[in-house]
Amino acid sequence: MYETTQIIHSYWAYLVLLILTLATFNALIKLLGKKEFNNNDLRISLFTVIVSHIQLVIGLILYFVSPLGLKSIQNNGMGGLDSFARQVAVEHPFVGILGIILITVGFSKHKKKLTAGKKFKTITIYYFIAWLLIFSRIPWSTWLD
Ligand code: HEM
Repeated sequence: MYETTQIIHSYWAYLVLLILTLATFNALIKLLGKKEFNNNDLRISLFTVIVSHIQLVIGLILYFVSPLGLKSIQNNGMGGLDSFARQVAVEHPFVGILGIILITVGFSKHKKKLTAGKKFKTITIYYFIAWLLIFSRIPWSTWLD
C-alpha cells in the first residue's frame, strides 16, 4: 500500500507541476498580450484543478501510510524532527493543501469575471502564488535522487 501510493504520488507530481506551470504562464502571457479568453484557456485551468485535486487525495492517503508522514511526527514528536523530516511531514503537506485551495479559489473566481483581462489576471495571481508555494516545499533532494 505504502510503496504503490508513494510511486503514484511521485509520478503524478510531474503532471501537477507541468500543468500548473503551463496554466500559470499561459494566463500571464495572455494577460500581458491582451488576448481573448478561449476554450483552451478554460481547459488548461480546469485541468490544473482536476490534476491537483487527484494529487491531494493521493497525498492525504500517503500522509497516513508513509513513515515520513504522520508516523514520523508520532514517533519523534514535533520538536524531534530535523529540517528535512519537518519539510516532508509538515511543510510540504500543509503548503500543498494551501496551494491547491488557491488553485480552486482562483478557478472559481475567474468564472465570475466578465472580461478576458480580468479572467487572466485572476488566474495569474492565484495560480502563481500556488506555484511559488508548491515548488518551494517539494522534497526535491529525495524526489530527483
Ligand atoms: C500540491 C501538490 C503536491 C505535489 C506536486 C507533491 C509532490 C510530492 C513529491 C515530488 C514528493 C517526493 C516523492 C518522492 O520522494 O519520491 C512528495 C512526497 C510526499 N508528499 Fe506530496 N505533493 C503534493 C501534495 C501533497 C499533499 C497535499 C500531501 C498530504 C496531505 C502530500 C504528502 C506527501 C508525503 C507524506 C510525502 C512523503 C512520501 C514518502 O516518501 O514516504 N503531498 N510529494
